[in-house]
Amino acid sequence: MLKKKMQKALNEQINAEMYSAYLYLSMESYFQSISLGGFATWMRGQVQEELLHAMKFYDFVNERGGRVTLELINKPETSWKGPLTAFKHILRHEQMVTGLINDLVDLAEKERDHATRIFLQWFVTEQVEEEASVGEIVDKLELIQENTSGLFLLDADLGKRAFTLPAASGE
Ligand code: FEO
Repeated sequence: MLKKKMQKALNEQINAEMYSAYLYLSMESYFQSISLGGFATWMRGQVQEELLHAMKFYDFVNERGGRVTLELINKPETSWKGPLTAFKHILRHEQMVTGLINDLVDLAEKERDHATRIFLQWFVTEQVEEEASVGEIVDKLELIQENTSGLFLLDADLGKRAFTLPAASGE
């Protein structure tokens, strides 16, 4: 059975993950509006990942006999100065999410909630991957700067992203 404090923190994380999905969906729409379809496709994969994160927390709270309570999702920004600004925003956002996950691990340890601590390990690893993949795109965009051919090549590359559900063993 989940302790109330842990339950509240996990519910807040469901909201944070849903907000991430909302933010990236807003970015997908932005990239569609500036005709960068590959960037938009990459964003759709990101949206699906965030929804998956939210549902992992949702299922875990229920599995532990807790109660999920959904709150208002904040309005995301709707436009950015360009791809580099958008991806720097994603990187800052993911670093913030990493901080939230670390806080949850700290709380689980403090509450001696071993099941939650172990559950959170997947997210600790996931955040390392998220920051690395976004950081790599930021680096490429920094190199490209105003080079339109470089931007179109990156767009084509990002458009190859296909979202696949992680294997059950990755739970
Ligand atoms: Fe759910 Fe991108 O962290």
